[in-house]
Amino acid sequence: MSKVKNIAVLTSGGDAPGMNAAIRAIVRTGNYFQLNVYGVMYGYRGLINGEIMKMDSRSVANIIQRGGTILKTARCKEFFGYEGRQRAYEQLKKYQIDGLIVIGGDGTFKGALTFSKEFDIPCIGLPGTIDKDIDGTDFTIGFDTAVNTAVRAIDKIRDTAEAHDRLFIVEVMGRDAGYIALHSGIATGAEHVLLPERPTKIQDIINELQANERRKKLVNIIVVAEGDESGGANEVARAIKEQLPHFDTRVCILGHIQRGGSPTCMDRVIASRLGYAAVQALMEGKHHNCMIGIVNNQLHYTPLEKAVKARQGIDPEWFQMIRILAS
Ligand code: F6P
Repeated sequence: MSKVKNIAVLTSGGDAPGMNAAIRAIVRTGNYFQLNVYGVMYGYRGLINGEIMKMDSRSVANIIQRGGTILKTARCKEFFGYEGRQRAYEQLKKYQIDGLIVIGGDGTFKGALTFSKEFDIPCIGLPGTIDKDIDGTDFTIGFDTAVNTAVRAIDKIRDTAEAHDRLFIVEVMGRDAGYIALHSGIATGAEHVLLPERPTKIQDIINELQANERRKKLVNIIVVAEGDESGGANEVARAIKEQLPHFDTRVCILGHIQRGGSPTCMDRVIASRLGYAAVQALMEGKHHNCMIGIVNNQLHYTPLEKAVKARQGIDPEWFQMIRILAS
């Protein structure tokens, strides 16, 4: 016997490729088990404003391969206030919704946690962010696609860098986390990777660029996470040009192209597994107010209060490896 009859799903915060695959899994699993499944448009904002629609298997046809989110997304200040959450609850009551699945990052989970405590609505969080900066999961929906987009772009940049013997500073996304920079940097043989998790001495990089020049290594790629304390790719380029004006230096900021595009197989599979598991958890009345992630290829349940932005440092060995492999 299912503990819930009517469930809702929303996407919130920055979109991430694979969110649609998760929505599809939730709707189809819910329908299979004879639950009513509602989609909430524009995240918590739509919940407050009652932008809620019933979904069925056909309404999620042909979306597994699409980036973005058919439910749209928003960042909603109103939901941080009690009054906003009260209005959201009224809407849930109107539709007799007794379980909520939220797909997003740690801001999304914080909102769900407060909401569920105040109004006794079971909530399940699914990690959906390209930044992969959530504790309690090895992967987040969207990271694999975003990092592969960055890799493809940097490979192209290397072609032209090679043709001109240039230094390229490539900025990738990651306001608070450097996983996209780290992984794309390793995968493209970048000479340096700059991340918010680790302070960078630009002087060390400049010294190395000079040493590279002396040994006729004239093509260099530096991958910078947007949140690195150096101030991003333009700032890094400015500091390098000051001391190395003869270097032929270019900047490329990849930006939001990393957020879009068709999700990779991995993101589709993760999203499908998590969406399916979220409905099961609500039906069984288990793992309420948890985020479901994947650790060692197994489903992993983390209480929402613990599912915050991951703050773990990155093993310094990785940076040594990057330098050795790019030599
Ligand atoms: O989705 C996470 C993220 O891509 C961050 O890395 C980035 O700083 C932020 O979103 C930008 O989001 P927006 O442009 O939507 O405010």
